[in-house]
Amino acid sequence: MAVLSAKTYQNYIAGEWVDAASGETFHSTSPANGEAIGTFPRSGEEDVKRAVAAAETAFEEWRLVPAPKRGEILFRFGQLLIDEKEELAQLMAREMGKVLAEARGDVQEAVDMSFYMGGEGRRLFGQTTPSELKDKFQMSVRMPIGIVGVITPWNFPIAIPSWKILPALVSGNTVVFKPATDTPALGERFVELLVEAGLPAGVVNVVHGGGGPVGEALVRHPDVRVISLTGSRETGVAVLKAAAECLKHVHLELGGKNAIIVLDDADLDLAVDGIVWSAFGTSGQRCTAASRVIVQRGIYDELQAKLVAAAERLRLGLGWEDDTDVGPVINERALEKIHSYTEIGKDEGATLLTGGEIATENGLDRGAFYRPTIFGDVEPGMRIAQEEIFGPTTALIRATDVDEAIRIANGIEFGLSSSIFTRDVNKAFKAMRDLNAGITYINAGTTGAEVHLPFGGTKGTGNGHREAGQAALDFYTEWKSIYVDYSGKLQRAQID
Ligand code: UN1
Repeated sequence: MAVLSAKTYQNYIAGEWVDAASGETFHSTSPANGEAIGTFPRSGEEDVKRAVAAAETAFEEWRLVPAPKRGEILFRFGQLLIDEKEELAQLMAREMGKVLAEARGDVQEAVDMSFYMGGEGRRLFGQTTPSELKDKFQMSVRMPIGIVGVITPWNFPIAIPSWKILPALVSGNTVVFKPATDTPALGERFVELLVEAGLPAGVVNVVHGGGGPVGEALVRHPDVRVISLTGSRETGVAVLKAAAECLKHVHLELGGKNAIIVLDDADLDLAVDGIVWSAFGTSGQRCTAASRVIVQRGIYDELQAKLVAAAERLRLGLGWEDDTDVGPVINERALEKIHSYTEIGKDEGATLLTGGEIATENGLDRGAFYRPTIFGDVEPGMRIAQEEIFGPTTALIRATDVDEAIRIANGIEFGLSSSIFTRDVNKAFKAMRDLNAGITYINAGTTGAEVHLPFGGTKGTGNGHREAGQAALDFYTEWKSIYVDYSGKLQRAQID
């Protein structure tokens, strides 16, 4: 097992590794045991300006590099991620806390995205259509937009940057990337590997630092035409407002309050596996986490008993140790927020079935560990059933039938992921149609999106855009419609 020494990292601007203009720094530490991960530049507006200027200069050449050649760099990047998968997963277990199997999955998602978007270098399809006039040809083509500002969260520190940066690049855009301040080392490694894959100077720039000094400067910079953010609802609304003045393209992915429905006819053991994986995987810190379980009355007691037993079998520990099921949450602040929701749930009259406390045994007090927590007898309107907790807490809600279950599932402000366990194909199809969410799973939990389908949600989860899949290309390109008249005479559309 490699022991990491805390090292000093820099920004990457115009192909050079540089300190923040102010010379200030911040530290990244492990949520598992407080170990130092590294020291990073605490950047500000000046650094953002330099990075944007570099991205602007690079854009003029990058947009003219043939897309298949841009794709080849992504293929090389994908291979480097494969080569470095174990090292990146070890770093992720330390810097972010997730267990190794999930950390490898996080890297694998970026590998998948590299190869998927690398292939887009030979597609980036537009359309050709007939014209209503004789001797006239027409087509639509995708154009790069310019400089893309990428602001990513800490919960998928390699996968989510890949969802944003790789489609932006293959489409011919250049990027200024602000990784989360909780996972800057992983953000930096991501960029180092892109550079190693052959990306020209200035095409991707990384500026470390906080959402205020760096994120806001990026969002407000008039030359940054596109912003993609995964973060909280509050940040998303603020970004949208700040970007409005310049009419930027803004993509927002802002979380969820995802429900798993379990009907009386479901395979209960399978449902329990799905709930445990979706509610407690990544310590519940996924936008797609199952923080509600809506259970039909006939199997409520049995499901509750099986679920509580399964949750109590989970072993909390250091993400890089083989027998750990659940790692820490990201930091002390998150721990406090998660625990405050346990108090809220108790005050609201829900029944705390298991967990509900900070774990401190066996050295866990050196990190930020919360016991997998299940509330029973939850009413759909309670705050623990409405607000995103972003921790290992889930709420069991009773429903009479599939219609009521779907109504409860939809009765929230978010619309990211959803799931139903049933063996009745009619009810499954009803759920596919009626669950108001960007993602619906049948007989699987709420997590596990694959990169070649659109990812995102309805209602308060975002602003209508999707990432991944072909949908990502629609966000990172502008359409141009081209009309070629080879008749040699004036032909008037809609008139001749
Ligand atoms: C997120 O939580 O923001 O489907 C991303 C999943 C993962 C990605 C989650 N592939 O849960």
